[in-house]
Amino acid sequence: MARIREKEELESWSNSSVTKDSSISLLKLITILIIFVVGVVIGLSSSSHIDRYFALRTQQFSLNNGAIDTTQQIVVNCEKEDCLSMKSFIRPRNLCHSMTDDELFWRASLVPQKEEFPFSRVPRVAFMFLTRGPLPMLPLWERFFKGQNNAKFSIYVHALPGFELNVTSTSVFYRRQIPSQHVKWGSVSLVDAEKRLLANALLDFSNERFILLSESCIPIYNFLTVYKYLTGSTHSFVEAYDDPSRYGRGRYSRHMLPDIKLADWRKGSQWFELNRALAVKIVADTKYYTLFKKYCRPSCYPDEHFIPTYLQLFFGSLNANRTVTYVDWSLGGPHPATFMAGNITESFMQSIRKNGTLCSYNSGNTPICHLFARKFDPSALQPLLNLTSKVMGY
Ligand SMILES: *[C@@H]1O[C@H](CO)[C@@H](O)[C@H](O)[C@H]1NC(C)=O
Ligand SMILES: *[C@@H]1O[C@H](CO)[C@@H](O)[C@H](O)[C@H]1NC(C)=O
Ligand SMILES: *[C@@H]1O[C@H](CO)[C@@H](O)[C@H](O)[C@H]1NC(C)=O
Ligand SMILES: *[C@@H]1O[C@H](CO)[C@@H](O)[C@H](O)[C@H]1NC(C)=O
Ligand SMILES: *[C@@H]1O[C@H](CO)[C@@H](O)[C@H](O)[C@H]1NC(C)=O
Repeated sequence: MARIREKEELESWSNSSVTKDSSISLLKLITILIIFVVGVVIGLSSSSHIDRYFALRTQQFSLNNGAIDTTQQIVVNCEKEDCLSMKSFIRPRNLCHSMTDDELFWRASLVPQKEEFPFSRVPRVAFMFLTRGPLPMLPLWERFFKGQNNAKFSIYVHALPGFELNVTSTSVFYRRQIPSQHVKWGSVSLVDAEKRLLANALLDFSNERFILLSESCIPIYNFLTVYKYLTGSTHSFVEAYDDPSRYGRGRYSRHMLPDIKLADWRKGSQWFELNRALAVKIVADTKYYTLFKKYCRPSCYPDEHFIPTYLQLFFGSLNANRTVTYVDWSLGGPHPATFMAGNITESFMQSIRKNGTLCSYNSGNTPICHLFARKFDPSALQPLLNLTSKVMGY
């Protein structure tokens, strides 16, 4: 009805424009305008009545049929569970999930377009442990994190499938294992595990720095020093160098041309430190990862070349090209030195912390070159615990 009247008004409006007497036509125009507005209001209100009527009918219909009205159900649950809450979106409550790597990497590569955060964001350091089984240095790490603001760090552990970290519910490592897959050392599955750690950590929007650690790694400075060093750095710390020997350039494959040239081929320790922007790039990449998967096979080790080379190709200026994890290669051979109980003395630990060399940091220099060190044998734990407060400052 209302719709029809609207149409009539419009037609009479066009008729009135041909009326000669202007004052009469103005009066007519105002009257027509009023009628038109009233018509629109009636039209709108009756159509919303109709909508509501139909909604009610649908609801009754589904209830009568014993079916679940999903709209209604979700609304009710959200009040209790708060399923679309900001809190669980910016930091998943639970590290368990059933996403495949493809799904996980896709989700982790999502980046907000908006620069400001709608919450007060404290940059977090994500400590990512890549381990086969137990963490023998756990008591040392517990001491390192003790009393620290837990808004400033988060922990992720990738162990072999089936392994469960046995820690009490008061530990900072409690329920910090991510869904893992089997890792064959030296193969591309090691890079997969690294990406899996990065991707899980990226789901927390507060994580800003991502450090990869092993079970034989220890922190050699206290938490606040590590936190300030990493969050204050304009560079990421991924060791990257051109090794002209057969252990460097010798592992390059010409099948990677034209995307990767020999001049861009880099080598470096797998124990990287990345900022958020670069971590997203690593997780989002498929093209270069696929080239490594296809053409970097033993005696080429993807974990020593993929990230250093990828950064060299696109983000070289953002990389410090050095690692913050100390390791001793002075003995030669394929494996670095392992430090045993007998090696742990105050002067030895001091020499790892500062050896008189300066390292570049932002636009200047710092006497602190390394924040972490490896490899420590489980037997080194007790002597190290003895030195934490005196030497390492925690
Ligand atoms: C876990 O640790 C507790 C105490 O440290 C020990 O009693 C228990 O047997 C351990 N459980 C497993 C499955 O290793
Ligand atoms: C690291 O190397 C890249 C290129 O290889 C260079 O552009 C960058 O400046 C280097 N980083 C530092 C901190 O010198
Ligand atoms: C560690 O101890 C072993 C055995 O005592 C020794 O051979 C090695 O040189 C020591 N390493 C360092 C870095 O002191
Ligand atoms: C000190 O550490 C730096 C960085 O790792 C290394 O290049 C240098 O050779 C070390 N110097 C001594 C005297 O050990
Ligand atoms: C710890 O230090 C004390 C003295 O500083 C020493 O007597 C003790 O043997 C040390 N323990 C270990 C396990 O090194």
